[in-house]
Amino acid sequence: MKYLTAIYFSLFSITVHSQISNTDADFLVKPYLQIGPKPNPEKLQLLWHSVDESAQWVVEYKTGSGTNWIKSEELTSTKIAVAGIAPFIIYNASFHSLLPGTLFMYRVSKNGKIIFNAEAKALKSAEQSYRFVVSGDIGTGTNTAKKIAYQIYKSNPDMVTIAGDIVYNQGLISEYKTKYWPVYNKDKADTLGAPLLRSIPFVAAVGNHDADTRDLDRFPDALAYYHFWDQPLNGPVGTEGGAIVPVLKATETNKKAFLDGAGEKYPRMTNFSFDYGNAHWTIIDSDTYVDWTDSTLRDWVIKDLEKAKDATWRFVMYHHPGFSSSKAHFEQQQMRLIAPILEKGNVDIVFSGHVHNYQRSFPMTFIPDRTGTLLVRGTDNRIIHGRVVNGKWTLDKKFNGRRNTKPNGVIYIVTGAGGQGLYNPEQQMDKDSWQKFTKKFISIIHSFTVVDVNGKTLTLRQVDINGKELDRIKITK
Ligand SMILES: [Fe+2]
Repeated sequence: MKYLTAIYFSLFSITVHSQISNTDADFLVKPYLQIGPKPNPEKLQLLWHSVDESAQWVVEYKTGSGTNWIKSEELTSTKIAVAGIAPFIIYNASFHSLLPGTLFMYRVSKNGKIIFNAEAKALKSAEQSYRFVVSGDIGTGTNTAKKIAYQIYKSNPDMVTIAGDIVYNQGLISEYKTKYWPVYNKDKADTLGAPLLRSIPFVAAVGNHDADTRDLDRFPDALAYYHFWDQPLNGPVGTEGGAIVPVLKATETNKKAFLDGAGEKYPRMTNFSFDYGNAHWTIIDSDTYVDWTDSTLRDWVIKDLEKAKDATWRFVMYHHPGFSSSKAHFEQQQMRLIAPILEKGNVDIVFSGHVHNYQRSFPMTFIPDRTGTLLVRGTDNRIIHGRVVNGKWTLDKKFNGRRNTKPNGVIYIVTGAGGQGLYNPEQQMDKDSWQKFTKKFISIIHSFTVVDVNGKTLTLRQVDINGKELDRIKITK
């Protein structure tokens, strides 16, 4: 059934786009889906960008076998006018009353003429099975990243989650323009990209390349994440200069221009949670400016996981892996500090990127040794390289993901091979260089993670740039 759906989906996209045309004057960025501030299976947001401030826009959609087009009654617009970029508008329309997990059609009209249409998939409800992809370190705009986008499309996911480093090198509006939109929202699927963003929701955690650039005087179009993404705002409220949010360096003019675009999303949208299908997702900012010894932040994660105790699965995603065997970024172990919280909250899998390869840990628990925690500081004494966090781990070596499918502990996945140059290919065959917690280490080819969830059964596969399976485990409850 999945296979049949995939064929229909692809053919539909190709057919539709041969009939309806639009120009750069219509769309600076073509329509893309977002889960919005309060995700539920009946709702989705549709965003697009245009330089045209005077146009009359209408969004209509059709669910299930219904024949009537429903007009979206909620349409907002936000002007982005930061220095160095021609001003443009971000439009944001809401889809309501969607049938959970089903395909629906939508179309966008400008001044009475239909200029875009596509087919999309609603979020899944708790009773439905689903497939999601996780990929990190993607937005390079290289042929490698484009081929991965194509393979992600061919894997036919219901949702894509990005484990940070969405766009290189500094998360700028101008960088999205060349490295993100044309690749992940291409009209036709081929090895140069695919129409993913218009068809399924993407969810992202911020990486260092998305959120570390806070000098708006030097880069006024930085922190594009806050303009372009529409994700929940239910995480802790940080204040500039506190444990979660670094200080913006900006003149009053540049700061105002940024805040006018970002609105209430800044600075809150980097830590949040939501439910999808029968799973709870906790998305966390692991950047080195965050102090994970801070109790406000730790308490938020504890409470968030407590509230999610009735979900069948709990997934956590943050950019910097706590448990990685790569020599690259090896000292950036700050996320080990919350390992006990995640274990206590019965987290099943943690997904990370940052390290550009694939790694899977044994199911494990970890007790940080605080006296062994070492801040790694830059030349100006700021904590810019994270922390070395020593401690004691306990590994479940009986779990093998085939006959024994019940892990004892958290499985840590590094899936940062989504586009950027690979790290430490020499370590793949050199098992002596792996940390004891590492079970699988694949660093000679680009890849991404595909997860199928059917009730209490989960299958995780790592798929390479050619569509070949590199790893597979099954987990059952
Ligand atoms: Fe990174």
